[in-house]
Amino acid sequence: MNNQTNSMVNHNPLTDLEHWEDDLLRRYPDPDTIATAKTKEEYRNYEEPARDSVKEFYRLNHTYQTFEFVENKKKEFLQFNKKEMPIWEAFDFLNQLVDDSDPDTDLDQFQHLLQTSEAIRADGHPDWMVLTGLFHDLGKVLCLFGEPQWAVVGDTFPVGCAFSDKIVYSEFFKYNPDSQNETFNTKYGIYEPNCGLDQVQLSWGHDEYIYQMMKDYLPESALYMLRYHSFYAQHREHAYDHLLNKHDQEMFYWVNLFNPYDLYSKSPVPPNWKELKPYYEDLVAKYLPPKLKL
Ligand SMILES: [Fe+2]
Ligand SMILES: [Fe+2]
Repeated sequence: MNNQTNSMVNHNPLTDLEHWEDDLLRRYPDPDTIATAKTKEEYRNYEEPARDSVKEFYRLNHTYQTFEFVENKKKEFLQFNKKEMPIWEAFDFLNQLVDDSDPDTDLDQFQHLLQTSEAIRADGHPDWMVLTGLFHDLGKVLCLFGEPQWAVVGDTFPVGCAFSDKIVYSEFFKYNPDSQNETFNTKYGIYEPNCGLDQVQLSWGHDEYIYQMMKDYLPESALYMLRYHSFYAQHREHAYDHLLNKHDQEMFYWVNLFNPYDLYSKSPVPPNWKELKPYYEDLVAKYLPPKLKL
């Protein structure tokens, strides 16, 4: 992007990061929704200022998330040489992300994580899945390293091959230079049929970052949940079945199991952290090292 254009663009159009997640609830109001042509149309026709900023957010995301951008961000952030801190301090660090627009009514980042993990625990799932709930959005600390919203949150999608029209606001991909690149703009692009998602680069954001942070410590099913939790074009719309292998298809059971806890566990009542703390301290100590590298 050229500098002049860049300086005129507001790279953070969302009032806060949850604004994107609130919007997901509009698209997927219940655990089984798939965006039909009709709901997509309704979705696009829905006009109000809040919708405009989500739309602008996706315009930026779809324009700038190129294959090269993803490769560069991986080089920059997957060295984990920005910060090192005791695990519990990482949550305090995350909580520096505050919603300036409405500090009284919004729960902080940690509350969303805790509500997700508590909902998973209440349903009797394994403890590593509870832990996954607690950590799944920790990657949003990327914002605190100065990253724009469109490089931290938003639906993720493969780069290096054609963008599916099942991705939300797919019309904005016409502004992405990869759409004009003949190596990238075919159905398979640089990939082989059913090559497996491990071979596929997804757009850069908090999902890949937390997956890479946790990959030595959690079971594979947990890692799928972390890595693909924003990959709505696949887990809701099945737009990339041609890139998944059989193992991915099986493992997406876990991504699908996780998604409702992420989307539908929000409640205005914060969990009682004082009571819960000993359980979570033991759980974190069971799986993770005392310090985390960001
Ligand atoms: Fe997330
Ligand atoms: Fe989340």
